[in-house]
Amino acid sequence: MNAPAEHLLAARGLAFHYGAQPVFAGVALAIRRREIVALLGSSGCGKSTLLRALAGLESPAAGQVSFLDQALASPHPRSALIFQQASLLPWLTVEANAAFGLDFRHQPAIAAATRRERVREALAAVGLAGRESAWPAELSGGQAQRVALARALAREPELLFADEPFSALDAITRAEMQNLLVEVVHRWHAAVLLVTHDIDEAILVADRILLMGGRPGTLLAEWTVDIPRPREDHPGAVTALRLDILSALRDTFVQPTADVA
Ligand SMILES: Nc1ncnc2c1ncn2[C@@H]1O[C@H](COP(=O)(O)OP(=O)(O)O)[C@@H](O)[C@H]1O
Ligand SMILES: [Mg+2]
Repeated sequence: MNAPAEHLLAARGLAFHYGAQPVFAGVALAIRRREIVALLGSSGCGKSTLLRALAGLESPAAGQVSFLDQALASPHPRSALIFQQASLLPWLTVEANAAFGLDFRHQPAIAAATRRERVREALAAVGLAGRESAWPAELSGGQAQRVALARALAREPELLFADEPFSALDAITRAEMQNLLVEVVHRWHAAVLLVTHDIDEAILVADRILLMGGRPGTLLAEWTVDIPRPREDHPGAVTALRLDILSALRDTFVQPTADVA
């Protein structure tokens, strides 16, 4: 069965292993246009590997990923990625780093003026207007991650894959970046798959949370987050959801024990 048209990305029956070691199996998920989905799970449960398979960077051992109803075999031009490290090129300015990737062969060709305008707009949206000529070495970790976000936005992605993008930042910068991410993807009408091990980050950012766990990994539970934004203004609802997720997460660690009664 084909994914319904409102699905930007759909996967079914996905499995992956490194050699003989299974990482995940039987994974099915769908991401709608403009939807922010958090993929939550403890370290080592296979989140990054799943993200790479969904992004077309790894071939699954079984199953299929489709993007806009087309089978995906390599990264789609309308997707973009950000990681924990901003990975800026130190010999390029902020502006050139944000533009980096627009001229790749699989990207649609765009006129120089459009390219400049897109980069200018993306840098302004992440709060870096006026810093176009700065060098990566002059930036804080948070600013470098803003450039990485601008680089992704400049591609006008339908879907942004973000793998623990704020994990290396201090708590205050992280909170600013979480809010910024939501603001810009809403403005760009993009969907997001945010991989995180941070329950609070998932609750503050996502429209829907998928819990991954088990060996091999599978998707174990799902929550729709309908708490109005800004969610900081609804601490009661946030706490209730956090407790619910924590309890499900705890269950993912419980090993079945022999019945000794
Ligand atoms: N290149 C690799 N070769 C072999 N095993 C790997 C490789 N990358 C990750 N793994 C293993 O696969 C499992 C899932 O890793 P990963 O997807 O990075 O998890 P997560 O992102 O949830 O922390 C882990 O047990 C990890 O050690
Ligand atoms: Mg990871």
